[in-house]
Amino acid sequence: MLVSAKDMLNKAKKGHYAVGQFNINNLEWTRAILETSEELKSPVILGVSEGAGKYMCGFKTVTAMVTEMVKYLNITVPVALHLDHGTYEGTKACIEAGFSSVMFDGSHYPIDENIAKTKELVEETKARGISLEAEVGSIGGEEDGVIGAGECADPNECKMIADLGVTMLAAGIGNIHGKYPANWKGLSFETLDAIQKLTGDMPLVLHGGTGIPDDMIKKAIDLGVSKINVNTECQLSFAAATRKYIEEGKDLEGKGYDPRKLLKPGFEAIKATVKEKMELFGSVGKA
Ligand code: 13P
Repeated sequence: MLVSAKDMLNKAKKGHYAVGQFNINNLEWTRAILETSEELKSPVILGVSEGAGKYMCGFKTVTAMVTEMVKYLNITVPVALHLDHGTYEGTKACIEAGFSSVMFDGSHYPIDENIAKTKELVEETKARGISLEAEVGSIGGEEDGVIGAGECADPNECKMIADLGVTMLAAGIGNIHGKYPANWKGLSFETLDAIQKLTGDMPLVLHGGTGIPDDMIKKAIDLGVSKINVNTECQLSFAAATRKYIEEGKDLEGKGYDPRKLLKPGFEAIKATVKEKMELFGSVGKA
């Protein structure tokens, strides 16, 4: 059964660790993440961007695949199926499609409009027992064609959004999606500290988990981050392992072209990346 992310994140905030959100793209991705979570007894959040939702033939197909896979693989750890960076319409569609968690990213709207739309979605998700993530201060980098500049959120605006009763809050603290450029200035712990002081028990979300040095991840968790999103890193490890298989000519040996063989190294590489992150985030054994 899919669960809301509320309990797992409140527990993480109290226990000073973070739950990973790993984005999924297809069956192999989903299975690799679910199996690793079960092996490590870690709660997990499966992230689905709107683009990935389209790629997988719609949010309803995704809900059906994940729900059935959880049953088929006898997954017992808490699993939340979560919309990543949803538009207002996309958020509504995922609520209808049976997602157990959604993110409405209103960070590009003026704050009053972000508040109004988030508020409406707070009512709708609460009525259905679904967790809701909101965002203040856009996250830099490119994701599904949306480019943000990586600004730092205004802590007072974070408090306004947190007070609406969202489940978790993503705030820009200089983090960006994708690989970090060589001249990246690092996370703004000053901003994070100020946000945490004003928002109290609210689990904070760190996007752009790929490429943030381990010591910064640990410090962010100390300062109240309870959910960390990782997407690109799984893509990079999948691609590298697949490249190695092909470059070594393994697809040409015997039935090495069989997709179940061809995709295996990438599948194992995703598992290894997820394991490494769960160990770093401290969520192992917390299910
Ligand atoms: P990365 O792709 O940088 O890991 O970021 C993932 C993310 O924040 C998804 O919302």
